[in-house]
Amino acid sequence: MESHFSLKVINLKKYFPVSRGFFAGPQKYVKAVDNISFVVEKGGTLGIVGESGSGKTTLARLVLRLIEPTSGSVYFDNKNIFELNKHELRRLRPQMQMIFQDPMASLNPRKKVKQILAQVLKLHTSLSSEEIHERILSLLEKVGLSPPELFLERYPHELSGGQRQRVCISRAIALNPRLLIADEPVSALDVSVRGQIIKLLLDIYNESRGDMTYIVISHDIALIKSMCKNTLVMYLGRMVELGETDRIIESPLHPYTKVLISAIPIPDPESARERKRIPITGEPPSLIDPPPGCHFHPRCPYVMDKCRTETPSYFQVDDRLVSCFLYE
Ligand SMILES: Nc1ncnc2c1ncn2[C@@H]1O[C@H](COP(=O)(O)OP(=O)(O)OP(=O)(O)O)[C@@H](O)[C@H]1O
Ligand SMILES: [Mg+2]
Repeated sequence: MESHFSLKVINLKKYFPVSRGFFAGPQKYVKAVDNISFVVEKGGTLGIVGESGSGKTTLARLVLRLIEPTSGSVYFDNKNIFELNKHELRRLRPQMQMIFQDPMASLNPRKKVKQILAQVLKLHTSLSSEEIHERILSLLEKVGLSPPELFLERYPHELSGGQRQRVCISRAIALNPRLLIADEPVSALDVSVRGQIIKLLLDIYNESRGDMTYIVISHDIALIKSMCKNTLVMYLGRMVELGETDRIIESPLHPYTKVLISAIPIPDPESARERKRIPITGEPPSLIDPPPGCHFHPRCPYVMDKCRTETPSYFQVDDRLVSCFLYE
């Protein structure tokens, strides 16, 4: 039977060992991704939101097996990608692509745009040089670098930030991936071009007509709202809430999500006045020595005694999962 899940992540963990000083005690770990599970349907969209250092990029890199997990599994097309051998993984690679957080760093500064794209096409297709050239022109056109001939011979530093991101997007879609992860796709860009890039990403998704599964990573839930049906909220390596984006924004359940949502600017001053902004207190704690119990408890306005010692599991509230004792 064919599964309708594109992606199924089970108890995924990535612990990075922290280098020890000469006199240091036992080995410590940064628990960048700590026991995360979720599914995304075929053609579905998932946003991953959380503050800097919460583990979003690490989670994405695990999902694409760009790094090996400490434990857990990622099923893509019903196969655990961590069990694939080199050959199988190489066949899967073109189908899972990522638009990286820093467009400048992800493009080779010594390669021209046409070489950057040709490299991917040569590696994973059997197209002739002529066909590759044609394909590059149509890819550039598709991502709004028009006329494409103008961009073929340019090096990354000869492009604007928005144009560079368009090149990254064209590379990510060059092989018609079935899973596309966009990691902070607009945060490095000037505000004036953000809207255009978001529109481009949405157009690409819509044109795929349900063939492409999208994951969008951002610290900005307003951006996620414009792109993703479901949202996973991360806090210090853990998933704190998972559910429909609109529902999460309407009525956030986890206290951390409440803080996150209350910080979204509201265009309408009338309703803005009515809404209470929840202040967040205290610095985000260190990932090396996270607080015991619920990681959020030192900053939580609703903290209870058990939050300081026990880790909440997931409680289901309607269609949502939330990791907080308020919903036990
Ligand atoms: N290769 C690595 N070795 C050691 N620690 C790492 C490594 N990669 C990430 N980390 C740590 O894991 C934690 C999560 O990092 P990650 O980049 O996943 O966060 P993020 O949510 O993407 O943050 P940002 O919003 O700033 O991009 C951080 O504390 C980071 O320092
Ligand atoms: Mg990141």
